[in-house]
Amino acid sequence: MELSKILNREMEAAFAAAGFDASYGRVTVSNRPDLCEYQCNGAMAAAKAYHSAPIGIAEKVAGALKESHIFSQAEAVKPGFINLTLSPVFLAEYAEEMAAADRFGLEATEKKKIVVDYGGPNVAKPLHIGHLRTAIIGDSVKRILRFAGNEVTGDIHLGDWGLQFGQIIEQLKDEKPELPYFDPAFEGPYPEEAPFTLSELERIYPAASARSKTDEEFLKRAHERTYLLQHEDPATKALWDHIMKISIADEKRLYDRLDVHFELWNGESDAAPYVPEVVRTVKEKGLARLSDGALVVDVAEESDKREVPPCIILKSDGAALYQTTDLGTLIMRMQTLDPDVIIYVTDKRQELHFTQVFRTAKKAGIVRPETELIHIGYGTMNGKDGKPFKTRSGGVMRLESLIAEIEDAVREKMKERYEDAEMDEETVKCVGLAAIKYGDLSNQASKDYNFDIDRFASFEGNTGPYIQYTIVRIRSILRKAEEDLSGRPDFRPISEDGGKVKDLFRAIAGFQDMFLTAAKELAPHRICAYIYQLSDCFNSFYHDTAVLKEEDPGKRRAYLKLLQLTERLLLVCCGLLGFDAPERM
Ligand code: ARG
Repeated sequence: MELSKILNREMEAAFAAAGFDASYGRVTVSNRPDLCEYQCNGAMAAAKAYHSAPIGIAEKVAGALKESHIFSQAEAVKPGFINLTLSPVFLAEYAEEMAAADRFGLEATEKKKIVVDYGGPNVAKPLHIGHLRTAIIGDSVKRILRFAGNEVTGDIHLGDWGLQFGQIIEQLKDEKPELPYFDPAFEGPYPEEAPFTLSELERIYPAASARSKTDEEFLKRAHERTYLLQHEDPATKALWDHIMKISIADEKRLYDRLDVHFELWNGESDAAPYVPEVVRTVKEKGLARLSDGALVVDVAEESDKREVPPCIILKSDGAALYQTTDLGTLIMRMQTLDPDVIIYVTDKRQELHFTQVFRTAKKAGIVRPETELIHIGYGTMNGKDGKPFKTRSGGVMRLESLIAEIEDAVREKMKERYEDAEMDEETVKCVGLAAIKYGDLSNQASKDYNFDIDRFASFEGNTGPYIQYTIVRIRSILRKAEEDLSGRPDFRPISEDGGKVKDLFRAIAGFQDMFLTAAKELAPHRICAYIYQLSDCFNSFYHDTAVLKEEDPGKRRAYLKLLQLTERLLLVCCGLLGFDAPERM
């Protein structure tokens, strides 16, 4: 059970034993850590209800805790606080249980079926830094929810149905008119091999997109081509297949480098067959009305603080929009997976879009009334200067270049530290990934943050490499100790050490509370804050304690088991954030 629950129960029982309502017995972390570890302010609230002085109540409750196994000290202080100190023996036992249990004793919570929709790249454009946050946050949220015991499916939801295909294909037509795809007399079958390479595709797309901005005739053709795609023209579909295959292979390669994975590679195109059902449903429910020829659903609510415009289902030319494909996707997900919760991870600027989609889906009964639809909107990733992150020449930075830059920074730092140590590229990759992911995830998702390569790659401070370094350090001590550390720990020999040892035990014991909060709030930054604190506690404990020189065998073993537990906790938490630790660094 999480520590906070145990402490609350103990305190509730003490209030009851002293003759007061148990609900006053709430324990919080002390706001005066110099005086005590925890505190309870319940006597102050109880004073009003019982018309008696708070200090008297506090004294009675403290008296009821005299024999407590959990609190070694409970002291009533004016005007009516109860200052609490945890029993070191209880703490040590709690840590023993954590070490021996599966998942550190975390009880399986509700087993929900959850879809996490993240990644969402638009096919045919190379992945750039705008795709980084959704990948990192979404993947971590997925890992956290899985660890909590849920059944979680990650779906990339590719942008694979839009105008960019019309643009690319029309540009290709101008460049290579001789291709059979553009010969109306050609009867197929179309070639197996794509008529372009990845790098050609990467050139064609921006060229076509720039051209659309100035060349109206071209833009019109691109729209017509997109219409053909969406109405199953065989030549267009054959080219679409080629574009998809080539660019998805490249995207997979990059997501692999990020160690980000998806169970489903569905896209907007998979939602297309459900669009007619979306239209039928909103019409049947009487929700749809025409507005300037467009089919819309009103979703504004009285309590709205900002204007929420109607959700557009079909444009006046009958075309489906981003909202429509998201509604179609919801129908598909309900039919195929029937999830309890669907979580979308996108830039927070898409908030209105999701408000419109969620409200329409609920009103139209596309999802069940109890289906939870959640949008995690993240802030902007800025450069060191606080302005949107750009390449040196001012362009949008490719994800690939960003990864390379951070790896360069890591390589430099490693050179600095280990002058002649051999540089192992696997380690560079592993540390680089931690630098990027921790740098991102340690910020609350909704906030903007500055991507500072040097700081993120630093081995000191609140960074991924610092956490990894702590793990590596523990491992090296454990290796040197050459002791068989299997079996259940016995922390009694060190439980009364106090000071830094107790701080470390307390940090360890906070795991479940932290994890449950992170899972409830879908907040990876809680995990970062936790492992940063845990690493600090470990490092200052180790600074003060000569573990390997300890002569008492019981104590030595207990210290080593404490290291082992710390290492496991750190490693599991890194796993929840999406990175690992190297053997050496
Ligand atoms: N492709 C979209 C974009 O680039 C993101 C997709 C997010 N997911 C969703 N179901 N709408 O903005």
